[in-house]
Amino acid sequence: MGRVPDLRDRHVIVTGGSSGIGLAMARRLVGMGARVSVVALDDDDTARLRDEPLDGAHRVHLAPADVSVREQVTVAIAGAIDANGVPGVLVTCAGVVHPGYVEDLPAATFERDMAIDYFGTLWSIRAVLPSMLEQRSGTIVCISSFAGLIGVFGMGAYCPPKYAVRGLCETLRTELKPRGIHVASVYPTDVDTPGFAAELPQHPPEQDAMQGKIRPISPEVVVDAILDGIARKRKRIYPGGWNWFLARLANGAPWIGDRIVDRAVARAATR
Ligand SMILES: NC(=O)c1ccc[n+]([C@@H]2O[C@H](COP(=O)([O-])OP(=O)(O)OC[C@H]3O[C@@H](n4cnc5c(N)ncnc54)[C@H](OP(=O)(O)O)[C@@H]3O)[C@@H](O)[C@H]2O)c1
Repeated sequence: MGRVPDLRDRHVIVTGGSSGIGLAMARRLVGMGARVSVVALDDDDTARLRDEPLDGAHRVHLAPADVSVREQVTVAIAGAIDANGVPGVLVTCAGVVHPGYVEDLPAATFERDMAIDYFGTLWSIRAVLPSMLEQRSGTIVCISSFAGLIGVFGMGAYCPPKYAVRGLCETLRTELKPRGIHVASVYPTDVDTPGFAAELPQHPPEQDAMQGKIRPISPEVVVDAILDGIARKRKRIYPGGWNWFLARLANGAPWIGDRIVDRAVARAATR
């Protein structure tokens, strides 16, 4: 049974809180009585949140920003802190994915994905750090991906920023623990979200052969795992029943996974 931290009246900032995992997180937090700020692009998803608020009795502060633009995310988070106070927790969910063969993807896609998935995470963290460091408390949770643990066919633009998020979290964990701040990274496999639905038709066939047997988990399972990880101060969070085992296998005995993957890819090879 997962533990649940007491976040009543705590300010929690969720980047990417307008869709998928971030939206499920924001919903749950509102239900728990947290003061929630959502940082996301100022588009239809954010407009929907504005028109159909999650609020109940609690206020959700909308802080539109492109997280890849340092000035925008810094201003948005400063506004969230003005509105809701010093953040107790930051959860970074904002991210994009563009599958395709490395030789086919436009050069700009590699730069954009790194700018959003990695630098968007870094700028968000740097925007909350001064106030957390002043309080000598806080929790920072960053969603990497299983693709931050192993190379995935067709994910040449996605794996590198997710590995970078992992490296950042591992570094920050050691730097910030002595200063009272808990840092955790999250490694979901496939999750049933609008982002995942949009990426599916772009998968090369070899990617489907490698990934297609994994049944997507629900965003709520990821939220449960994150809340449990915050309560238990976990350093690394592996949502879903098999995920922890798969992660151990990927890190401890990569040759086993390599063999399974190479066979699946060879059978589906189109080039
Ligand atoms: N779904 C999966 O299978 C899976 C697996 C492992 C890891 N992840 C990771 O989990 C996180 C959430 O994924 P998801 O599937 O929930 O995706 P999603 O449904 O597409 O939601 C992505 C969120 O990120 C926001 N976002 C995208 N680009 C942004 C930008 N430049 N600035 C600010 N916000 C931006 C989106 O805002 P708008 O809605 O306003 O555009 C949206 O709120 C991502 O980091 C993803 O890589 C997902």
